[in-house]
Amino acid sequence: MGSKDYFDEVAQRWDEMREAFFSDAVRQKAYSVADVQPGGLAADIGAGSGFVTEGLIGKGLRVIAVDQSASMLEQMRSKFSTSNSVEYRLGRAESLPVGDDTVDYVFANMYLHHVESPPQAIGEMVRILKPGGRLVITDLDEHSFEFLRTEQRDRWLGFKREDVQGWLSQAGLGMVATDCVGENCCAQSEGGAESASVSIFVAYGEKAPASGAAEGRQDR
Ligand SMILES: C[S@@+](CC[C@H](N)C(=O)[O-])C[C@H]1O[C@@H](n2cnc3c(N)ncnc32)[C@H](O)[C@@H]1O
Repeated sequence: MGSKDYFDEVAQRWDEMREAFFSDAVRQKAYSVADVQPGGLAADIGAGSGFVTEGLIGKGLRVIAVDQSASMLEQMRSKFSTSNSVEYRLGRAESLPVGDDTVDYVFANMYLHHVESPPQAIGEMVRILKPGGRLVITDLDEHSFEFLRTEQRDRWLGFKREDVQGWLSQAGLGMVATDCVGENCCAQSEGGAESASVSIFVAYGEKAPASGAAEGRQDR
């Protein structure tokens, strides 16, 4: 079963599963480094059932929620049916269904370790950020728990923070940094034979303001 089929299958149980993996502290750290402001427009990429989106609408932001799984987006729609602050878009990492320079913030929680090419996925997230906008990624530090790959369809066994920092810089972000979220993601293998506890990092950066058009005309 591929990643999309897996997340379609677990969509109805995802909130319960996620609560066992990690806590509210993860999204609070992400909002804090992004310095989210009410009235802003955010994208939640790999939104799942809306963990990050829920907090953002509570803080007065509008959200474009993107996921490859229609079932996950359906969960979100029913949870946030009374809110008109969320747009739901089915899409994939390689070609996000959002225009260039559109959003003030991009969040991606526990998404990067599922995508085929993390640098390409980061490039797409940077593309949709407005100049001056912030990208915030929360994900797992490098680990060796193979069962997360076989049982939960993780593609990457976490990341070295310096690699993620390098990808953010290569994608054109400035003020790039990483930090500890301060808690671990905890999971048990099927049957309970193995248990994983992996630290969570936050990586972030800011898209530079567009350079003045006049500069490029000097050598005409
Ligand atoms: C581990 S879940 C995290 C969901 C949510 N961010 C949360 O914190 O609860 C990963 C999500 O990313 C989505 N996803 C994985 N690979 C993707 C891809 N290549 N393109 C778009 N979405 C993807 C999955 O469908 C799933 O909903």
